[in-house]
Amino acid sequence: MTDQAIAVDPDVYSNDVNTYPDDWQSETTSIGSSIYRGFLENGRRYQSLRNEEYMVPSDDQMFETYEAGHLVTIILDSERENPLFRSPIGDDPKHILDLGTGKGVWAIDVADMFPNATVRGVDLFPPPVSWLPPNCVLEVDDALQSWTWREPFDLIYMRIMTGAFNDKEWDQVYKQCYDNLRPGGWIEQVEASPVIECDDGSVPKDSILNTWGPNTRESAIKSGRDLDAIDHMKESIRTAGFVDIHEQEYKWPIGPWPRDKKYKEAGTVNFQHWLSGMEGWCMWLLTKFGSPAPWTKEEVLVYVAKLRKEIKIPRYHTYQRARRVWARKPLPEDSSAKEKEIKKE
Ligand SMILES: C[S@@+](CC[C@H](N)C(=O)[O-])C[C@H]1O[C@@H](n2cnc3c(N)ncnc32)[C@H](O)[C@@H]1O
Repeated sequence: MTDQAIAVDPDVYSNDVNTYPDDWQSETTSIGSSIYRGFLENGRRYQSLRNEEYMVPSDDQMFETYEAGHLVTIILDSERENPLFRSPIGDDPKHILDLGTGKGVWAIDVADMFPNATVRGVDLFPPPVSWLPPNCVLEVDDALQSWTWREPFDLIYMRIMTGAFNDKEWDQVYKQCYDNLRPGGWIEQVEASPVIECDDGSVPKDSILNTWGPNTRESAIKSGRDLDAIDHMKESIRTAGFVDIHEQEYKWPIGPWPRDKKYKEAGTVNFQHWLSGMEGWCMWLLTKFGSPAPWTKEEVLVYVAKLRKEIKIPRYHTYQRARRVWARKPLPEDSSAKEKEIKKE
């Protein structure tokens, strides 16, 4: 037995990584807990809480990607006093929730901004943080299970949750948000489109970049969870009973090609967001639901390498659409005002 070499697991971070990631095992982590270990597939680590059903990995590379995505949203609203959210919740909120917190960066920043509030972030996988503001709590849970928080929230925030839920589950999530906000509390959601767009024809029609949106969407639809939250969230929020609905549209440039300083900066960070994100965004989808048949890991890696090459071409003026929607849970006065209005008619 001893003269046999121990076989190497090719899935354990074999690609271009020279050391185990810092979040592999922390002192406070029980190695026996499968929730903390997740599972490895095609070189990436995924959460295991929700029956292996979320398409994006939870590993160092993806957490780096989330951090870049967070920065893009901050840069594009950097002229605002509060670039973290738009909901007018006043200066003294008490309870804030970040659903699908990812690395927890938004929750941490908001906790710093409101030291008197308790800011909770919840996710299927434990965020890799070694220090948190004392008023920030990051929890591992499935947002589709019944919620056990007792305090009604002033604000519930979601960002880039597209692909996490099917239509029925989205309705359930918005209902849970509605039920768990105080009257007059706010819901806010930021979503980005997976489609790479270009306004000036600088991307040739036959560029592989044009296949990214259709490929990821098609496989996401096959998986039962489309990537179209950007286009349906406003109506779903309205249907859930929210009022006072606002929206802001964005273009997130990909690359430093814009002339404007703010857009150049956002594009530079979004470029890193895409470079570090693409493999993780599509590996699960394409190896399980790719067309015409599920792709191999190698096919995905070659595809991503080609995309990376083209996304780096400075004369291609690429961007993705993004949208922010924020809305209020009605106050009792809202319904009496509405009743009065109806009576008047
Ligand atoms: C694309 S990431 C976005 C992370 C973060 N909101 C951000 O913008 O940086 C989506 C996150 O939602 C989490 N998620 C997906 N389904 C979930 C569920 N049912 N309950 C809780 N979190 C979920 C994933 O684990 C992932 O971390």
